[in-house]
Amino acid sequence: MGSPERGGGPESRVAVVVVAAGSGSRLGHPEPKALVALAGRTILEHALRGVLGSAEPAQVVVVAPPARVGEARVLAQRAAGLAADHVTVVPGGESRQSSVAAGLAALAPGVEVVLVHDAARALAPAALVDRIVAAVREHAAGVVPALPVTDTVKRVVAGAAVETVDRSELVAVQTPQGFPREALVAAYAGATEEYTDDAALFAAAGHPVVVVPGEPEAFKITTPWDLARAEQLLGGGPRVRTGVGIDVHAYDDAVPLWLGGLYWSGEPGLAGHSDGDALVHAVCDALLSAAGLGDLGSRFGVDDPRYAGAASEVFLRDTRRLVEDAGFRVGNVAVQVIAARPRLAPRRAEVEARLTDLVGAPVSVAGTTSDGLGFTGRAEGIAAIATATLLG
Ligand code: CTP
Ligand code: MG
Repeated sequence: MGSPERGGGPESRVAVVVVAAGSGSRLGHPEPKALVALAGRTILEHALRGVLGSAEPAQVVVVAPPARVGEARVLAQRAAGLAADHVTVVPGGESRQSSVAAGLAALAPGVEVVLVHDAARALAPAALVDRIVAAVREHAAGVVPALPVTDTVKRVVAGAAVETVDRSELVAVQTPQGFPREALVAAYAGATEEYTDDAALFAAAGHPVVVVPGEPEAFKITTPWDLARAEQLLGGGPRVRTGVGIDVHAYDDAVPLWLGGLYWSGEPGLAGHSDGDALVHAVCDALLSAAGLGDLGSRFGVDDPRYAGAASEVFLRDTRRLVEDAGFRVGNVAVQVIAARPRLAPRRAEVEARLTDLVGAPVSVAGTTSDGLGFTGRAEGIAAIATATLLG
């Protein structure tokens, strides 16, 4: 076959049908999957970026959710820029196969090679599109990209593993899959059942299908975990914020000691409007600081009679709720206590477990003394310093 004309649009010899009409039930998002946001754009726009980046100008047929055709057209034309007139958007059907059929019905006359691509494989690189187009021309056959299966594969019947399948003969198939146009359109016209992919439908019509290497980035976004992986690959993972909190309380022999949310019998307590739990107060301040929500005093009013003698875990629970209501999730908290007493080591694990439970994320606790120096060295009081990370 001769070198393709440049210019695309109606003269293109290649078309890519991007099926984007599915609802994405396994992703569990209110929007149809192709319109779900990924690193500041929709999944559809990411998929189109790979398609439009291919070496040969192609007709691009986007098969959109029927109720969202107008929106998909705006997105697709914007993504195509100067090549906007090479983009066609049509409504999809109930099944993937009927959506592909709708896309094939919109092919421009001069198209000889058709690729069918899942919008859900949003990060498939342009090089993969080029590889498939070249292989269709070379073999005059159907072409599927595939990766070797790396996990051990078992056949399972009623929950029991009955056989280990020889994986050396297995591959995991991706899209875009490519075909000679006429043969694919005829195979679709004659299909009387649903097939799992286009290559299976094509092969059932008696045509050969060749396998070429796939790309790891062409994985399909199916579950929320896949979406998070795509976000991370695009460098758009959650933002991390840090915060710091310090609290100091004087010893008061007349009150019981509460520290780290635990009662310590036989130890001098800590003076304060609440229970004086400097460790927990430092954690609260670190969390509020990381979220940009002020501090314990301004949030809960240290003089507020409702908090007189309050157990510190009340503050910690309320702080966690404020932070989560502001759209953050706690990454972790680290806190160090500087005190001549109590000796933290024997109950360190217990404090960590208690606070980890209250915060809903790992809390690590360390203890130290100040070598006889300062107010902690003179055993006048204790200090706690906490840092926290929030994700969101
Ligand atoms: N697709 C389509 N029309 C359908 C069903 C699926 O165009 N009626 C498209 C999807 O938009 C997706 C691709 O086919 O780009 C692969 O399908 P899948 O990943 O299964 O997407 P959904 O069907 O949307 O997701 P789910 O199966 O979780 O509902
Ligand atoms: Mg599906």
